[in-house]
Amino acid sequence: MPKMSKERQEGIFLPFAPREYDAVGEEAIAVHWKEEELIQPKEEFIRQANMTDVGIYERFSEKNYPECFKEYGDMLSWDRYWTETLDASNPPFFKWFVGGKLNACYNCVDRHLQKYGNKAAIIFAPEPEDEPYQFITYRELHRRVNEFAALLLDMGVKENDVVTFHLPMVAELPISMLACARIGAIHSEVFGGFSSKAVAERADDAESKVLITIDSYHRSGRVIDHKARADESVNQCKETKIEKVLIWERYPGKYSSSTPLVEGRDYLINDLLENYRGRRVEPVSKPAEDTLFLMYTSGTTARPKGCQHSIGGYLSYVAGTSRYLFDIHPEDTYWCLADIGWITGHSYIVYGPLSIAATSVIFEGTPTYPDAGRSWRIAEDLHVTIFHTSPTMIRMIRREGPDEPDKYNYHFKLMCTVGEPIEPEVWRWYYDKVGKGEATIIDTWWQTENGGVIGSNLPALRAMKPGSCGIGMPGIYPIIFDEDGNEIKTGSGKAGNICIKRPWPGSFQTIWKDPDRYVETYYSKYSKLGSKDYRDYYYFAGDGAVQAADGSFRILGRIDDVINVAGHRLGTKEIESSAGTNEEVAESAVVAKKDPIKGNVVDLYVALKPGFEPSKELEEKIRNKVVTDIGPIARPSRVYIVPDMPKTRSGKIMRRMLAAISNQRECGDVTSLANPEVVEVIKNQVQG
Ligand code: WTA
Repeated sequence: MPKMSKERQEGIFLPFAPREYDAVGEEAIAVHWKEEELIQPKEEFIRQANMTDVGIYERFSEKNYPECFKEYGDMLSWDRYWTETLDASNPPFFKWFVGGKLNACYNCVDRHLQKYGNKAAIIFAPEPEDEPYQFITYRELHRRVNEFAALLLDMGVKENDVVTFHLPMVAELPISMLACARIGAIHSEVFGGFSSKAVAERADDAESKVLITIDSYHRSGRVIDHKARADESVNQCKETKIEKVLIWERYPGKYSSSTPLVEGRDYLINDLLENYRGRRVEPVSKPAEDTLFLMYTSGTTARPKGCQHSIGGYLSYVAGTSRYLFDIHPEDTYWCLADIGWITGHSYIVYGPLSIAATSVIFEGTPTYPDAGRSWRIAEDLHVTIFHTSPTMIRMIRREGPDEPDKYNYHFKLMCTVGEPIEPEVWRWYYDKVGKGEATIIDTWWQTENGGVIGSNLPALRAMKPGSCGIGMPGIYPIIFDEDGNEIKTGSGKAGNICIKRPWPGSFQTIWKDPDRYVETYYSKYSKLGSKDYRDYYYFAGDGAVQAADGSFRILGRIDDVINVAGHRLGTKEIESSAGTNEEVAESAVVAKKDPIKGNVVDLYVALKPGFEPSKELEEKIRNKVVTDIGPIARPSRVYIVPDMPKTRSGKIMRRMLAAISNQRECGDVTSLANPEVVEVIKNQVQG
């Protein structure tokens, strides 16, 4: 048995409470969606698709596992071929393509030069519309990545060092990622919208000595002074000293930040690059199982976890899924409107598409600025053929401009949705309006931990079903368990906890520096811990799901203390612990409130220490503290200062009751509470 985690010992770790799927929030709505009709992809799409062989499901079935994944591994160029496809001798720590050696940057750049050197690898679409698109060919990308890699080496970055980035959606972000990959360093990109404190915590955890940032960027019509945040981050690091801050300039040669450079610490990359013209750096040949990057994500504690992703397994999985699922051909122009600071962008703006020689669009701005036609102008200008976004974006674009798509002459062959459940009604608008009734839609279910999509239909092989992601991807065997570990049968109409039966190459290796938490969080609930047989291990995803009789899964949302806001994961404990740092706050509780655009928003309830009085100012102060600690994405929509929290007799805060109040639902039986009278008071306060 693995050592029990510290969190468990201290009782902070929450064993997942049994869920009543017919009574709670997000799931309740989703579970009552009616069965939807099936929609067939158009023949024109099928005719051109990369994967049209139904035999693939048989090829990737359990009887051919794990060797089936050779098909993905073979999409990459290896310096040394692997000797063992899966080493499962130490479950649940799995190793893929063992003995193999490769370089991720070589696979995403160098190997395409011969055939696609002069083709755009990246098209950067700046937010200001009077700025031209930047077309970065594979040859140009190769030059820029090499020069920056040489600079990083001179800055003292070594193989396996972790370099932290705090970068927005600019071409310099993938260039920085690929340069790190080239020299064998590990990158850790923190979402550009996260606060300086969030960056400091992640840099501390990763022990980064180098931070890469940018002077400024455009967002929703504003120029964001980004470098200022780097100064704050450096000062807030507790355990690690960031020795160097490397700063890209949004306009090379024109430093655009109000903050001065710190002598001996800050370096303007674009200045220094003058000295690296034409420099080349050999890609380091890395063992497949070395780490490519970390991506921090929220969990059930106050501390985000660094999901550690491998080189060979990750890259082969995103290459395979980019080809078969996203149906990317080298001649497509593919646009994923997500942020590279989230896993979707890592896998499906950068590594997946570039590994198969795609043309990938990077958009700096927001899709509704300056108006809701913005996305469709980009689609028309660039002849985008594949469009990928989230339900929140779709809802937002629809609200702002329901008829805008009609005005533009673009044609998508494929559209994707990711990150949250999509309501069938929103799905249909996406299909009819955005896709003009022509495009095939894939709904892709997966998580930061998974590296790539694990639940979706291969678009030419299975019919679409609004609101369902489809079946397990080839080689992925999802299974739904009830609380007691009994399998819930297909088509029973019952919801349960979705798990994955066997490891797959894209899955993360562990949580950075915290293997106990990895085992505890993902493998303790339904696995036979201690067993040496990998078939005794079930990856616990933390999502509720139902499986229809036709086999397709409908993902119902998180079942743990994670809230999905606008497709982004927020840990309730992170927000509560930020609230708790205000001296006035005695207790706090975060719940998800349904929202027509963002799926969910955050409602924060706080109780004050004796001697403090509620006020609007205090609410605002608490709200701002969350923004400072985590970032604007976590900003509570409402802060309610309540006289007391509803509690069980053992003193546990009944968050579920607060969630019911926030969502205008019945609270149910309150008699078992220690303080039932407070429920009415809070109800009046919230529902007025
Ligand atoms: C949710 C994003 C419904 C789910 C790639 C998961 C989805 C969390 C879907 C992971 C989908 C992701 N339908 N829900 N197609 N895709 N989710 O780590 O709750 O940012 O656990 O990864 O998003 O969010 P993450």
